Amino acid sequence: EKGSFDHFMMKEIYEQPQAVRQTLAGRVDPAAGSVDLSGAGLSPDRLRSFERIQIVACGTAWHAGLVGRRLIEAWARLPVQVDVASEFRYGEPLVDGRTLTVAISQSGETADTLAAVREARRLGSPVLGIVNVEGSSLAREADWVLTTKAGPEVAVPSTKAYLTQVVALHLLALALSRVERPEEGRMLLQLPQRIEQTLAMEPRVRELARQLAGQSHLFYIGRGLDYAVAMEGALKLKEISYIHAEAYAAGELKHGTLALIEPGRTVVALATQEALRTKTVGNMVEVKARGGRVVAVTPDRPDARKEVEVAADALLALPDAPEGLLPVLAAVPLQMLAYFAAVERGCDVDRPRNLAKSVTVE
Ligand code: F6R
Repeated sequence: EKGSFDHFMMKEIYEQPQAVRQTLAGRVDPAAGSVDLSGAGLSPDRLRSFERIQIVACGTAWHAGLVGRRLIEAWARLPVQVDVASEFRYGEPLVDGRTLTVAISQSGETADTLAAVREARRLGSPVLGIVNVEGSSLAREADWVLTTKAGPEVAVPSTKAYLTQVVALHLLALALSRVERPEEGRMLLQLPQRIEQTLAMEPRVRELARQLAGQSHLFYIGRGLDYAVAMEGALKLKEISYIHAEAYAAGELKHGTLALIEPGRTVVALATQEALRTKTVGNMVEVKARGGRVVAVTPDRPDARKEVEVAADALLALPDAPEGLLPVLAAVPLQMLAYFAAVERGCDVDRPRNLAKSVTVE
């Protein structure tokens, strides 16, 4: 039940530290920082025998896959393709026995994802399911299963399942890596506590959401991992508040979308990565020069604040945490922003119109 929360969605947002803790439990050695996925039946040798990774998923799970691609490419140095499951089959998929297909699904019952899994297996590619519901169709059909331990997710908008999918992909990327990455492994163990700190942003996010709730269009921008998280933020807002939102790679703005920036148009800019910050701030300046309003998401550190504040109308300051965790943490205020905007607009947050929790038709 919802307990003291008004909606399951907020309850599930608050369950994220625990969901992530459970997803990490027994899989990361705290001393060595090493990752062990033998619980999923995947030995290190088998994992490292693959030459390519193909990710298939839908909606929010696809957005988790986009984060996963960055991590696997950076840490395991393997080429990764991410496809929306419903599109996978039409591209004459280039998967074979040397490709590990990774299917991500909360419910494990999404028809498009299951169809993609069957196609991958037909082509000889073994499948790893990243799935929340044990005993689901995906859990049964996949060759190996890495369970996310989010617990039952009731609200239609996915929150804790998304975060645990992202965590599972961090684990997979580390397990696929041919070199030990103890720092990254140990960093992950800080995540539950960092998410708890991030939840304290609630009052600030609520205030901002009230200001934004009357808008009819919003943009989300970011670079690298921030772009993948921006896509999830935009989907969450559309899905429950019915405000139209689009995510763009920050550098793409000036290739067309900037034409849509007019006075008062709000852009949520994610700037969590130091190496990309100056460029993203440049894009924020472009938005402001056209009269747009910028809400910036950046870590609560003097250097970051100082650089970003110049081009921002409002700041959502994330707790200062290891940089690798910041894009994951940034998802939390974006979930809350969507939630409070939807509540402000009187929407049915847990059961948005036209949507089902589990989509079992193609
Ligand atoms: C959005 C949302 C959907 C699901 C998608 C896939 O908040 O929940 O986009 O992520 O329908 O569902 P699963 O993960 O069950 O395959």
